[in-house]
Amino acid sequence: MRTARRIVVGILAVCSLATGCGPELRVVGDDRTDLPVPMLTEAQRAQFDRGDELFERPFRASEGLGPVYIRASCASCHADDGRGPGSVERLAAVDANGDPLMDQGAVLPFGSVVRSEYVAPATRGVSAPDDPRVLRSLRVGPAVFGRGWIEAVLESEVERVASEQRAAGGAVRGRVPRLMDGRLGRFGVKARVATLREFAADAFRGDMGLTSSLFAVEVANPDGLTDDARAGVDLADEQVDAVGFYVAAIAMPSRAAVDPAGRAAFERAQCSQCHVPSMATRADYPLAAIAGQRAELYSDLLLHDMGKALSDGIAEGAAGPRDWRTAPLIGMRFSRTFLHDGRASTLDAAIRAHAGEGSEADGSARAYEALGAQERARLLAFVQAL
Ligand code: HEC
Ligand code: HEC
Repeated sequence: MRTARRIVVGILAVCSLATGCGPELRVVGDDRTDLPVPMLTEAQRAQFDRGDELFERPFRASEGLGPVYIRASCASCHADDGRGPGSVERLAAVDANGDPLMDQGAVLPFGSVVRSEYVAPATRGVSAPDDPRVLRSLRVGPAVFGRGWIEAVLESEVERVASEQRAAGGAVRGRVPRLMDGRLGRFGVKARVATLREFAADAFRGDMGLTSSLFAVEVANPDGLTDDARAGVDLADEQVDAVGFYVAAIAMPSRAAVDPAGRAAFERAQCSQCHVPSMATRADYPLAAIAGQRAELYSDLLLHDMGKALSDGIAEGAAGPRDWRTAPLIGMRFSRTFLHDGRASTLDAAIRAHAGEGSEADGSARAYEALGAQERARLLAFVQAL
């Protein structure tokens, strides 16, 4: 948890710059990204605080960090529960066409993630092999606020949206991210993980080298080490549970009143086909404030083919190299970069990057470009305020 900060809402600033609709800057007071959802029980509040502490602090070698790792704390890649600054460099072994090779392990013996940091007894980290078949790509840590709402969305809602897209018969045809075990993949930019608890355990091991009962084996490393300075499993279940709970219970940042003209432009450019404004949540989700509500995620939680330009050569779970989960549009004003690898530094650039051959969003990106300057500015202000 961090101290509150005061910010000037950018929504009206954008509007005034682009359209001259008035230099009306508003200070909306404390605009925080790390608050819990309301209505937590006392026990839940205690678990939130416990998870918050574990999320913020750097782990030490004596606690089981490593042998190889990327960063020592969750917060270093999700500062103030927002986006970045830390990131993960991913690797893929591809053929001349950029398609993934069947046998990734032959080219990437230590896996598909660069882990430059290490602690004794390790003597080196995992770096990218110097091989022309290795494609390198970046993933910037996305914001983690509002993610409980993603976990709570009814599966039937996700399926309904997918079949509506199919029935419409257009280019937009999202696929339900089914995991090997049949569950719905909800988390990660390619929707490869079903729950926040599992994501926490996966991040602890994959990004920090901290094993738990869920992922008990240390990641492969050039020294061939199977353990680190802390013998056996590094984390107690209670710690993983607390961090998973913490992430689930972080509120969505507050949203200013919606500008109907911005909303209309968003509809007109067909953004809401994929960035679905809201979906219903389970009635039995363990957080009272989230259960049986409408989750305003601006995502269909489906995988879409976004074309060659956004491809990273990596097939993950149900997602192919060109597929990405529709990014939820939550707290956009807190991001300085956009898209999975942060290649866009403005919302406008992020939207234009949806265009291209083979992208399901090409028509929508063209509709955006065809909007008048004023309408486009209203659309951007609307997205910025989500
Ligand atoms: C080295 C940087 C890094 C560290 C450390 C890190 N993350 Fe992440 N996190 C990422 C990246 C990059 C992604 C997107 C990865 C992907 O989908 O492959 C991500 C995704 C997530 C997501 C999914 C968000 C979504 O919208 O689906 C959650 C939840 C999350 N991280 C939680 C954590 C927790 C909890 C920790 C600490 C135990 C942690 N992360 C540590 C970089 C990091
Ligand atoms: C076919 C589905 C689809 C349509 C239509 C679509 N998007 Fe997206 N959008 C996505 C996907 C998938 C991503 C994630 C891509 C990535 O990370 O590389 C994304 C990412 C974004 C992002 C970046 C979010 C972030 O956190 O980095 C913004 C902003 C965005 N879309 C806005 C829009 C707007 C505005 C429109 C309408 C003009 C639109 N999108 C139309 C699927 C779609």
